[in-house]
Amino acid sequence: MKITFCCTDTKSEPWLKGLAAALPGADISVWQAGAPQADYAVVWAPPQQFLDEQPDLKALFNIGAGVDALLKLRLPPTAAVVRLDDAGMAVQMAEYVCHAVIRHFREFDAYDESMHAGQWAYRKPRLRTDFAVGVTGLGVLGTRVARALAQFEFPVNGWSRSPKALGGVRCYSGAEGFNDFLAASRVLVNLLPLTPETQDILNQGTLSRLQSGGYVINVARGAHLVDDDLIALLASGHLAGATLDVFRTEPLPAGHPFWQHPKITVTPHTSARTLRDETIAQIAGKIAALQRGEAVAGIVNPDRGY
Ligand code: NAP
Ligand code: GLV
Repeated sequence: MKITFCCTDTKSEPWLKGLAAALPGADISVWQAGAPQADYAVVWAPPQQFLDEQPDLKALFNIGAGVDALLKLRLPPTAAVVRLDDAGMAVQMAEYVCHAVIRHFREFDAYDESMHAGQWAYRKPRLRTDFAVGVTGLGVLGTRVARALAQFEFPVNGWSRSPKALGGVRCYSGAEGFNDFLAASRVLVNLLPLTPETQDILNQGTLSRLQSGGYVINVARGAHLVDDDLIALLASGHLAGATLDVFRTEPLPAGHPFWQHPKITVTPHTSARTLRDETIAQIAGKIAALQRGEAVAGIVNPDRGY
C-alpha cells in the first residue's frame, strides 16, 4: 500500500515518521512531481498538479476539518475526500468560543482598563438571559461549542441545514428558520463550512437582525463575513464587537482595518489547530478500515460542499 503526503506549509518528517509507526509495512513518501501513483493521500492545500498526477487515488485525507480549499480543485474522479473528524479540535474550539463569549459578557476588557488605571471599579452584573448565543452550524465543532456554552447557562440557539434536537439548545434549521434564529440571538458564533450557499452569509442584512448590542465570533472561514458590513454595524452601534479568527486573506494584510479596530479582537487562525498525533492516529485507523473494506466516518459530499 502506497501513501503519498502532500501538505503545504507543513513539516513532513514528523508526519511520515508517525504514519510509518501507525501503519507498519506501508510505503509512505512525500509527493514530488512525477512520483508513481499512490493508493491514499494525506493532504492540505495540495497543488492541482498533484491531483492531476494521482488520478487513481482511493481516498484523500484532509488534515483539517474544512474542505473548502480542496473542493475548489479538480479532484480524482473516484477518490473519497475524508475530512478530519474532531481529532482534538472540538475541545479547542469550545474553549476559544467560551473564552470569547465570557470575556465579552463579563466585560473583562473594561476590567483590564480599570486595572491599568489603578482603579478598583465594580461593574453592574449583566444578565445571562440578555446574552443568547446563536451558533450557525451544528456539526462536529458547532455541537460541541453549543453544548459547552449551555454548560455556562447561556441561552443557546443553533442553526443547521437539517433539523436537529440537542439538549439545552434551541434548534432552528433551513433558510426558513434563519431569520428567527438571528432574531433570538445576541451573540453569533459562526461554525458553518464555506460553500456557495454560505459565502458572505454574515452581511449587513443578516447581522442587523441580531439583537441590539450584538457580538460576532467568526471561527469558520473569512469569506463568510462581509468585512465592510461588520465595520459599518460596529460604527452604527448595532454591534458591540467581534472576535475574528479567520479572514478573507490570511495572513490578514498589514493595514487592514480589523487590525487596529478598538472593538475587534484578531487571532491568527488558531482557534482549533490540527493536532499531529491525534490526526495521524485517526487517518491511520481510517486507512486500515478502508483496506479491510469497512466504511469510515467523515466522508465529504462534494455536491453539498462539506
Ligand atoms: P461539519 O461537521 O461539516 O458541520 C457543518 C454544519 O453546518 C452542519 O450542522 C450543517 O448542517 C451546517 N450547514 C452547512 N451548510 C448549511 C447551510 N447552507 N445552512 C445551514 N446550515 C448549514 O463542520 P465542522 O467540523 O463543525 O466545522 C465547521 C467549519 O469550521 C469547517 O468547515 C471549517 O471551515 C471551520 N474550522 C475552523 C477552524 C479554525 O481554526 N478556525 C478549525 C476547524 C474548522 P447539517 O447538520 O444539517 O448538515
Ligand atoms: C482549519 O481551519 C480546519 O479547517 O481544520
